[in-house]
Amino acid sequence: MPNGREVAVVTGSSSGIGFETSLTLARNGFYTYATMRKLENGSQQMTDTAKNENLPLQVIPLDVNNDKSVIDAINRIVKEKDRIDVVVNNAGYALVGAFEETSMDEIKTQFETNFFGAIRVMQAVIPLMRKQRSGKIANITSMGGRIAIPFDSIYHGTKFALEGLSESIQYELGPFGIKIILIEPGAVGSNFWKNLKMATKTSGPGKNSPYEKLANNMSEALKQMVKNTIHPSEVAKVILQAVTSASPDFRYVVGKDAATILEARRNMSDREFQSLLKRQFNL
Ligand SMILES: NC(=O)c1ccc[n+]([C@@H]2O[C@H](COP(=O)([O-])OP(=O)(O)OC[C@H]3O[C@@H](n4cnc5c(N)ncnc54)[C@H](OP(=O)(O)O)[C@@H]3O)[C@@H](O)[C@H]2O)c1
Repeated sequence: MPNGREVAVVTGSSSGIGFETSLTLARNGFYTYATMRKLENGSQQMTDTAKNENLPLQVIPLDVNNDKSVIDAINRIVKEKDRIDVVVNNAGYALVGAFEETSMDEIKTQFETNFFGAIRVMQAVIPLMRKQRSGKIANITSMGGRIAIPFDSIYHGTKFALEGLSESIQYELGPFGIKIILIEPGAVGSNFWKNLKMATKTSGPGKNSPYEKLANNMSEALKQMVKNTIHPSEVAKVILQAVTSASPDFRYVVGKDAATILEARRNMSDREFQSLLKRQFNL
């Protein structure tokens, strides 16, 4: 376990998984930088909790969409602590809607946060970790980084992309003592559901869209998913376990739903799995 000198950085700490992970890492001996793009969103609650529990944690601004914001935050941490041991690339949201009805701007913005955001942070910290010859980077993807459901194509695109990139760079970085870890949660009860962005052109009720039936089916499926979520602290526990392991696995699946569906995927042909999802979503 860390002794208070090891430094962790978490993106998207204002709520949900990032909020819980920042506190969990600080409670377990990491000097933790809980970063947020808008400090007004969650910093007070985080700072109050840290103060009450006397945790080694500070909140600093970091918007993963912005080069300067990422560089400024990492430079500040290096200036203050001269090391970074753990990075959790957590910031993200989901864009939903029929692919045909999603605009290029919405697609680019989704990639900007979920994919390029994680890349920005990794490129900012890897030179330091390489010099340290140690470091762990946990990328929060999703079970949706390995299987895909309809109406979520661009979100899946970002998460599949981050999985592929992570798999490739772990070969490059391993020799320098840098471990890349994927965290793949199923449905988690966080602001994620409230923050879902609906593609603006997409079919809503009464819009006479060719995708209206699908939209209604997916909206029903979503209601079921939201009923069966795990608490974000469950994901934080797994992240802690992964980043404190001397020899972490590459993938950590979190939640029974994710474990069940990924197991089914492993044991089925493409055709069988697609039939299962079609039945599931009444397609
Ligand atoms: N909840 C789930 O079911 C689930 C399942 C699998 C994977 N995940 C993944 O888990 C991660 C965390 O999601 P969550 O469930 O904890 O949702 P959440 O409660 O909505 O938290 C998302 C966090 O990302 C931040 N964020 C968004 N854009 C950002 C940017 N440009 N720069 C910095 N921070 C930004 C949000 O900040 P603001 O407060 O400023 O918006 C918020 O702190 C996401 O990558 C998500 O894809 C979630």
